Amino acid sequence: MCSSDLITFVAQGRHLRVTVKMPRFEQTYMSKQQFQRPTPVNLYLELLKSSLTDTLFNREPNADGSQDRFILDFAKHYIQGLAITMLPRCRLDNLEECVESVIQNKVPGDLIETGVWRGGATIFMRGVLKAYEVKDRTVWVADSFEGLPKPDEKECPLEVKAHAGPVMSKLFNHLAVGIEDVKKNFAAYGMADKQVRFLKGWFKDTLPSAPIKQLAVMRLDGDYYESTRDALQNLYHRLSPGGYVIIDDYGEKTWTYCRKAVDEFRKAQKIPGRLTRVDSKCYYWQKQK
Ligand SMILES: C[S@@+](CC[C@H](N)C(=O)[O-])C[C@H]1O[C@@H](n2cnc3c(N)ncnc32)[C@H](O)[C@@H]1O
Repeated sequence: MCSSDLITFVAQGRHLRVTVKMPRFEQTYMSKQQFQRPTPVNLYLELLKSSLTDTLFNREPNADGSQDRFILDFAKHYIQGLAITMLPRCRLDNLEECVESVIQNKVPGDLIETGVWRGGATIFMRGVLKAYEVKDRTVWVADSFEGLPKPDEKECPLEVKAHAGPVMSKLFNHLAVGIEDVKKNFAAYGMADKQVRFLKGWFKDTLPSAPIKQLAVMRLDGDYYESTRDALQNLYHRLSPGGYVIIDDYGEKTWTYCRKAVDEFRKAQKIPGRLTRVDSKCYYWQKQK
């Protein structure tokens, strides 16, 4: 989930005035897709991205235009619309490149997303494995399938405020999507198979004992401090050197402490180097070999 500035808007018809922090994507990620030859694999993956983001006939909400317009477009396109992922295309390009990198460089391990909403990014991970005929890696789909956890009142006041606000609680329904709906989405894309495994429950309960031996890509999109911390603490030691950690909300400052969780973890683990920017919110790093 990606949000930025504090904005007030009036929802038409309902005269609802709410304060909301909403996404502003700066799509500056220079994807290698832009320079690729139109091979069957590339053509398939581009079409898959268009379908999952529902951008075949519709445009992504324009983050650089009017913010009021963008908020309404975001709710329409993602929450009320048909998109299976709320990631902008540039983040799927980044995910594709990380998965391709570990395949090409033979970095061992599975792929996981912690925080999947309708499942789109994990369906895309499975699609990349399928496109490259990779049969020895699993995609792990980790979510409560009942939305975001209630943040800690003392530690995370900004998250508490956002969590209780009308946009997160009413308009977004705390991003809750049931596991059966997510499984239906996998099936609709022909991706529901033995290379996909679900981890249902809160990360703090499911991740410590998850039967994952080794990871090559971990994509963290649980939004909140606790969700990010729990994923890092329980998964990072299983990430192979040369593997990738993608943090969807590292650039968010106004409604989540995701960045704090990452910075604390990296400091404690003495992880060298900087994170690489995908867009203004999403960042990643590669584990050193
Ligand atoms: C922003 S959405 C994920 C968007 C998704 N990556 C996509 O491709 O559209 C955040 C998800 O994280 C899940 N989540 C957040 N914190 C969690 C936790 N601590 N345990 C389990 N699920 C969590 C929510 O249920 C929600 O589905």
